[in-house]
Amino acid sequence: FDLEKFLVSATADTLPTRANASATRSDHTTRRTFAIISHPDAGKTTLTEKLLLAGGAIEMAGAVRSKGNGRRAKSDWMDIEKNRGISVTSSVMTFEKHGITFNLLDTPGHSDFSEDTYRTLTAVDSAIMVIDAAKGIEAQTRKLFEICRLRDIPIVTFINKIDREGLDPFELLDQIEEQLALTVAPVVWPVGQGGLFKGCYDLAANDFLVAGSDKTVHFEGGLDDPGLAKVMHPDTYAGFRDAAELAAEGYADFDPVAYRQGHLTPVVFGSALQNFAVDRLMDLIAAHAPAPRPQPSDKGPIAPEGDKVSGFVFKVQANMDPKHRDRVAFVRFCSGHFKRGMKLDHVRSAKQLAVSNPIYFFAQERALTEEAFAGDVIGIPNHGTLRVGDTLTEGESFRFTGLPAFAPEVLRRVRLEDSMKLKQLRRGLEDLAEEGLVQVFRSSIGSDWIVGVVGPLQLDVLASRIAGEYKADVSFEPVPFNVARWIRCENESTLQAFVKDNVTHVARDRDERPVYLCRDEWDLRYIQDRNKDIVFDSTREIV
Ligand code: G4P
Repeated sequence: FDLEKFLVSATADTLPTRANASATRSDHTTRRTFAIISHPDAGKTTLTEKLLLAGGAIEMAGAVRSKGNGRRAKSDWMDIEKNRGISVTSSVMTFEKHGITFNLLDTPGHSDFSEDTYRTLTAVDSAIMVIDAAKGIEAQTRKLFEICRLRDIPIVTFINKIDREGLDPFELLDQIEEQLALTVAPVVWPVGQGGLFKGCYDLAANDFLVAGSDKTVHFEGGLDDPGLAKVMHPDTYAGFRDAAELAAEGYADFDPVAYRQGHLTPVVFGSALQNFAVDRLMDLIAAHAPAPRPQPSDKGPIAPEGDKVSGFVFKVQANMDPKHRDRVAFVRFCSGHFKRGMKLDHVRSAKQLAVSNPIYFFAQERALTEEAFAGDVIGIPNHGTLRVGDTLTEGESFRFTGLPAFAPEVLRRVRLEDSMKLKQLRRGLEDLAEEGLVQVFRSSIGSDWIVGVVGPLQLDVLASRIAGEYKADVSFEPVPFNVARWIRCENESTLQAFVKDNVTHVARDRDERPVYLCRDEWDLRYIQDRNKDIVFDSTREIV
């Protein structure tokens, strides 16, 4: 991974074009746009790497993140990320296999960065849920799963680290059924576990994937095939066969329709580190994960078959190239056949935008792309025209809906060390709010900026980026508020009166929407009880 090259290429003018990209890119039906959801440390990075390897997008293991020095090549350009060894920004990775184009949208694993993650999940059609076999379902897995459920995103489950001692496979499946209320359908079952791990068995294909080798043995007779007993140690065979039969009988069969409706999850036991059963996972996605689905808009669902191009911005990344102060807007296409140079309507500003430098993201390189279909994600370099939630169309005036913003859980007042740097601070806060790193509020009295984040680690990132990219040093002071809610009311004068009566508690967000700030949930309920006409929203749609 060449950091310098990556940074220089950010201006896009000098990027190579990817002509070969069009060879297999026929239309949206060949697209699988998905994300991996997991709790930190479950193995998302390792699995990502193995998927990229299988897709030929990288050539050797360790390229995504080299072991030992904590270097993560994916988005290495951010200091804070290097220091902490966590991935703080999402990126897009495109690769191809068997004529299918996989667009993997990376979601930051750390629980602090949910806003960005939520938005990324609005741009995918399916997800892989990675669970650590030793830990089962963890907090962040559950949180992300709930978002997927809200959006009916179908999920394939990968139970990882089966090469290590872990929970009993049945216990893991029962956890998924009970805690996530999902029907489970085991597809690839472990043969032994931990020290006794001998491989995996594909219950649908009747293939035994042999641990410690690339060998796959097919058994025509399935679990009853006498050959199975011959290739396994008698002790392993007895235990495995009982468990596999119980699994096959005790749980649902894989039903692709129920999966695509989000009611059932096929489960693959495997090991990302050992590259075990990762190909089965990929095959499942290729064969059964949904191709781009209709996307909700204010004029009804937009079908991917539609011949007019449309898409929406789900993420904006500022300062990918510190030398050029650029921004890249990540656009997910929802219909039509996009070609480089096209003029698209920017619905919010009612202006046209010539997309002459659309960037495709491969694992380690970026390239100009000549075309894209529904499901594809491109980056459009721009100087602030494109915002998260924006819709691009080919001459139509609808707007995609459903991109959420969440009420922050940590609020702080921004203190600027050097008052001469006010302009830089304002610019930095605006840009980083645009990225979704932070929400910015102005108090109704005084001129304080209050920032809101979902987790405190974001504050470190914010301070570090404002110092590094905007040359202003800031610190954060506590405020007497821990809860923020957007407020609205059908009757505008009732709302105005409420704002007037509660002026010390009301701030404005970047779009001048009123936000009620209070100490805790108890105070919130108190004020809600006394103001039944006012609606307090913990989420709002980005428009
Ligand atoms: P994350 O992105 O979800 O946070 O997880 P990541 O892939 O970084 O994996 C977390 C740790 O789990 C890593 O070990 C990784 O090597 C290990 N791991 C991932 N998949 C498997 C697996 O299938 N089997 C086993 N046994 N381990 C697995 P680490 O010690 O934290 O980092 P490193 O020193 O290996 O880089």
